[in-house]
Amino acid sequence: MTSRTGAAVVVRRADPPEYAQIGRLTVAAYRADRMIPDGSRYDEQLADAAARADGAELLAAVIDGRVVGGVTFCRYGSPFAEISRPGEAEFRMLAVDPSARGSGVGEALVRAVLGRARDSGAEAVVLSTPDTALAAHRLYLRLGFVRLPERDWEPVAGVRLSAYRFPLADC
Ligand SMILES: CC(C)(COP(=O)(O)OP(=O)(O)OC[C@H]1O[C@@H](n2cnc3c(N)ncnc32)[C@H](O)[C@@H]1OP(=O)(O)O)[C@@H](O)C(=O)NCCC(=O)NCCS
Repeated sequence: MTSRTGAAVVVRRADPPEYAQIGRLTVAAYRADRMIPDGSRYDEQLADAAARADGAELLAAVIDGRVVGGVTFCRYGSPFAEISRPGEAEFRMLAVDPSARGSGVGEALVRAVLGRARDSGAEAVVLSTPDTALAAHRLYLRLGFVRLPERDWEPVAGVRLSAYRFPLADC
């Protein structure tokens, strides 16, 4: 895929030497959008990309050899899956380095997840996202995700997550 600046965005499995960078950019992206609740230790989870590579599939977005984004692809029932049901795949912790935003990297990562899910035989992809993640919500709607309010949930008091679903059978 080509970014807005014309550079090629490659999305592939992350290599172990890249885990730390993906952890750092994930914290920076979530912090930029005020998605780390005050007093929480969520930043430690976000930084631990190695755990995500272990319990799920960690994908990296790379432009000109530089890792600029990451996302975690989870199969139903795997350690990082939260709201998926049988037949569905899920993704978590989508993040683009704040300096690389608005270039199509987020879209490339989500499209890679959809391709990965299709290859795995899933019939749909689901995710949950904080109500405050407005840039992410725009991206999901633009790509054809639909709201799934019956699976909205609150992992901790005061943190409301909205669910979205992309039906793969339709495309
Ligand atoms: C959400 C997030 C991943 C999006 O990443 P991104 O790389 O900026 O996403 P994209 O570049 O694909 O899309 C962002 C904007 O750029 C625009 N854009 C992208 N490529 C473009 C192109 N080639 N030409 C013109 N515009 C383009 C998109 O239309 C979009 O505009 P919009 O927000 O007004 O709809 C990023 O903002 C982020 O990391 N946010 C914090 C973490 C987060 O919210 N994660 C998701 C939690 S569920």
